[in-house]
Amino acid sequence: MTFSPATSSEVGYSQSVESRLKVQHLQQRTKEVSSLDGSDVVEGLTNESKFLPARYLYDDRGSELFEEICELPEYYVTRTETSILQNCAEEIAEITGACEFIELGSGSSTKTRILLDAYQKLGYPLHYFPVDVSAGILETSARQLLVDYPWLKVHALAGTYEQALGELQRSELPNRMIGFIGSTLGNLNPQQCDEFLSQITAGLQLGEYFLLGVDLHKSKDILEPAYNDAAGVTAAFNLNVLNHLNRRFDGNFDRTKFEHWTFYNETKHQIETYLRSLEAQTAELRALNLKINFEKGETIHTEISRKFEIDSIEQLLKSKGLVTQKIWTDKNEWFALILSKLT
Ligand code: AVJ
Repeated sequence: MTFSPATSSEVGYSQSVESRLKVQHLQQRTKEVSSLDGSDVVEGLTNESKFLPARYLYDDRGSELFEEICELPEYYVTRTETSILQNCAEEIAEITGACEFIELGSGSSTKTRILLDAYQKLGYPLHYFPVDVSAGILETSARQLLVDYPWLKVHALAGTYEQALGELQRSELPNRMIGFIGSTLGNLNPQQCDEFLSQITAGLQLGEYFLLGVDLHKSKDILEPAYNDAAGVTAAFNLNVLNHLNRRFDGNFDRTKFEHWTFYNETKHQIETYLRSLEAQTAELRALNLKINFEKGETIHTEISRKFEIDSIEQLLKSKGLVTQKIWTDKNEWFALILSKLT
């Protein structure tokens, strides 16, 4: 099913939620290591230094915990980006005009509402394509948006970014914009980042837009508490990855035998997050036929959150053909939103 473009007479006319919603579960098309079939878990947990792809943090419970993180006093990221968006959303809408907005890692779509409000105010039709690996939160948020925005059409894609970028159809509206906000780019190492941006470029037509939100360099004193909050929500978020693995791969990880460990690596400009084994132990993921031994103090690397500089990220985008149209930041220059165009 595809949507027909909204005409101005349709805007404001309320059709049922069902008729404006499509939810698509993306299937794994190749046997690549990057999909959610567990081969990436085997690769990570049998590696000399154990690691897990950060996306395993986001089962439905993980997405809920991340929403709680966004409200924490120490976690400045969401609050700062929201304030920037409030100032620039109408400018973004003016630049793109009527548009299909593909949001990678949409989560609860809370910040997206600021953009939807701007397109609504300017009377520009918008079709929203949220993409998330957490299918539960994806569908719940899509339905709520459709209730709150009676003119909106939503085509939700449950799957990884790679899967979604491979599925994109030619736009029915005059323009498209891919959004990757919330500094999720920071979860990718430089090589993954490079590959990811190439996929963005491949997914866009010339003249289309990419909206990127990135967290910027700042003091360790601000960064470390943001990833190790006093209430322990970030610790719960990190430990939840073990519940996710247990459920998904018939495992027996005991989360009480691990602790959350995080610090800012000032050389690499990245927060590094681990789970640390409190004792020597063995865990098993039966569905993957995998037994994992831990020494006391041994770690699983679960996440990096890189912090960027505006100039170097602009250069990187430019090397992919993505030319900056405008950059917005907050008064402290803690966070930046960069709108670029494929040229
Ligand atoms: C959603 C990837 C941007 O790295 O700041 C928050 C995830 N992890 N606290 C981040 C996260 C721990 C977050 N991103």
